[in-house]
Amino acid sequence: MGYRGLFVTGTDTGVGKTVVAGALAAVLKRQGHSVGVMKPVTAGAVLQNGRLVSEDATFLMLAAGADDAPSLVSPYLLREPVSPNVAARLEGVEIDPQSILLACRTLARQHDIVIVEGAGGLLVPLRDHFTMADLAILLDLPLLVVARPNLGTINHSLLTVLYAKTLGLQVAGVVVNGLRPESAGIAEETGPGIIQEMSGVPIIGILPYLPDVSVEKPCLDGLLQAAEKALDLSKLGSILWPQGRLLPTTLMPNDPTVPSLSHRVLDSEVTKNDDRPF
Ligand SMILES: Nc1ncnc2c1ncn2[C@@H]1O[C@H](COP(=O)(O)OP(=O)(O)O)[C@@H](O)[C@H]1O
Ligand SMILES: [Mg+2]
Repeated sequence: MGYRGLFVTGTDTGVGKTVVAGALAAVLKRQGHSVGVMKPVTAGAVLQNGRLVSEDATFLMLAAGADDAPSLVSPYLLREPVSPNVAARLEGVEIDPQSILLACRTLARQHDIVIVEGAGGLLVPLRDHFTMADLAILLDLPLLVVARPNLGTINHSLLTVLYAKTLGLQVAGVVVNGLRPESAGIAEETGPGIIQEMSGVPIIGILPYLPDVSVEKPCLDGLLQAAEKALDLSKLGSILWPQGRLLPTTLMPNDPTVPSLSHRVLDSEVTKNDDRPF
């Protein structure tokens, strides 16, 4: 069985990772796929009916029409809305990337495609010496980068894409989210094209601001229709098909051009004990 999926990251927190991941899940479901979703670490989980829940996971499951167990979809529920390593430390929890990998593999066996939403941006730490980028590498999933539409997005998007590429991560595309056409100016009009040209990564689409959509409520009204119009999933090409190894042979651990993070990732036990079943 193939391991198809995407790891949705963003240029920042609050840029719309959950909305875009949900949009993608809804479109893929509409196309007839069984879609698994995962929010491995939630910092800022909320109490609902006496239970701690991830609003992001709830939104993603609604979008995907999935009903997998919370232990698989949102295994780490942390109260404090701060960096996961800090939130975990405050609760005396240790985040175990291997347990996230096992949950992801279980979901991958039960669905055609798995969409995983990171927390924050790519370099947010999950624990000491382990970032979201490390998790994407461990899960062996290509990235989808969510970016905001306005001034500043060129720099943030390129930093995210180019650093991911430096680590050997495959970047499937960028989605620009939350465009308000009525107030869009030259920056909004030119930004996406510049990001695509300078990063060499396709813009999958520009999702507009949708007044009825809300992660917190949760409300998905209008999301599928807007996503079908705005997102061109054909630009993901063969990305959604079984993956080969992510780390190209040109990026070996002794390559001095590779930043220290990838040395650590490549040297770590988790990548050495790589026994992917897919
Ligand atoms: N395209 C959109 N239209 C309307 N509201 C949006 C859109 N994208 C994001 N939001 C809202 O903005 C906030 C942040 O989006 P979210 O997807 O939760 O970001 P992230 O997952 O990156 O933290 C949420 O309240 C969400 O409902
Ligand atoms: Mg989110």
